[in-house]
Amino acid sequence: MSVILGIESSCDETSAAVVRDGRVVLGHVVASQHELHAEYGGVVPEIASRAHLERLLPVLRQAVGEAGVGFEDLDAVAVGNRPGLIGSLLVGVSAAQALAWSLGVPLIGIDHVQAHLYAGHLVDGEEPAAEVMAERTLGLVVSGGHTSLYDVGGPLDAEVIGRTIDDAIGEAYDKAAVILGLGFPGGPAVERCAAGGDADRYALPVSMLGRESLDFSFSGLKTALLYLVRGRPKTVAGKPVFERSSQDLGEQERADLAASFQRAAVHAVTKKIERALDRSAAGYGRLVAGGGVTANRYLRGELASVAERRDLELMIPKMIYCVDNAAMIAGLAHHRFVAGDVDGLDLAAMSTPSG
Ligand code: KG4
Ligand code: ZN
Repeated sequence: MSVILGIESSCDETSAAVVRDGRVVLGHVVASQHELHAEYGGVVPEIASRAHLERLLPVLRQAVGEAGVGFEDLDAVAVGNRPGLIGSLLVGVSAAQALAWSLGVPLIGIDHVQAHLYAGHLVDGEEPAAEVMAERTLGLVVSGGHTSLYDVGGPLDAEVIGRTIDDAIGEAYDKAAVILGLGFPGGPAVERCAAGGDADRYALPVSMLGRESLDFSFSGLKTALLYLVRGRPKTVAGKPVFERSSQDLGEQERADLAASFQRAAVHAVTKKIERALDRSAAGYGRLVAGGGVTANRYLRGELASVAERRDLELMIPKMIYCVDNAAMIAGLAHHRFVAGDVDGLDLAAMSTPSG
């Protein structure tokens, strides 16, 4: 049994959550900073750290209040301490260190990407939870920073078998949104725009890399979309000059481009999943997915079809646990807590992934 408080501040969401036994979310609050970064078209690290500082204490109090527990009922404090924006991570890590010290409970540092992979286990209230991921699980993380496939042996045991060699898929969505003249954050904006579009209108490249490769590449797709929207650039005084801008797009044209982009981006992912399944001798029984882009309904539908076709159990987070959240941090921390594997109060924030 455990009741763990989780804190997440790696990018532009300030979040706190209380989770029982690694599965049942008792309280969960996310304060998004999207409105602060929208005018810059991307996350501004300095603004993000300041906003975390202002928001973390109210968010913490609200999550613990919602859970109906007192701070004294907490068995451990967990924090996403890697990877992410260093200034943002430091706000969460410092708060977690102070809380763990003052409450006299263990501190547990969690890898944000591993936590995304775990988020499908989370349930609200007393709903029945799926069995904790067993052996022979294929894992997928699709977020703003990662597009990776994993051979998963358990919640704390995931070996990377494929990764992006350039942009992450979420980053590709965000850049596509800029190219198409849509808002920030780009993923949801492209998804909305694509809803009225014809995905057959434009043939955009689905990068497969080498015949054996499980890696991903999205930069060719992004460039192909850019040229479709703005024409091929001419070099004038050493700088690229385009014939057109996103403002010249008609509404239907924009929707068709968004739909064609979305199909190419998602197919790049599902094709690599199929390749990983074909290559695995023992055979995977389960597909576990996580990360911000799993909030995309088209991707969710395509993952469900792959799972059905290949007779896999699909574990995918509820919508609220796809994008950055602290419930996944607290949930995964349970597995380290019960193993007695906790960190010292000198836990460091790290901008790059560990191991
Ligand atoms: O996991 P996340 O919240 O943060 C990272 O760890 O990166 O993922 C954020 C990414 C952003 O690139 C965002 O555009 C994308 O997830 N995203 C989506 C959708 N919702 C968020 N992409 C496509 N469709 C969505 N509905
Ligand atoms: Zn994330």
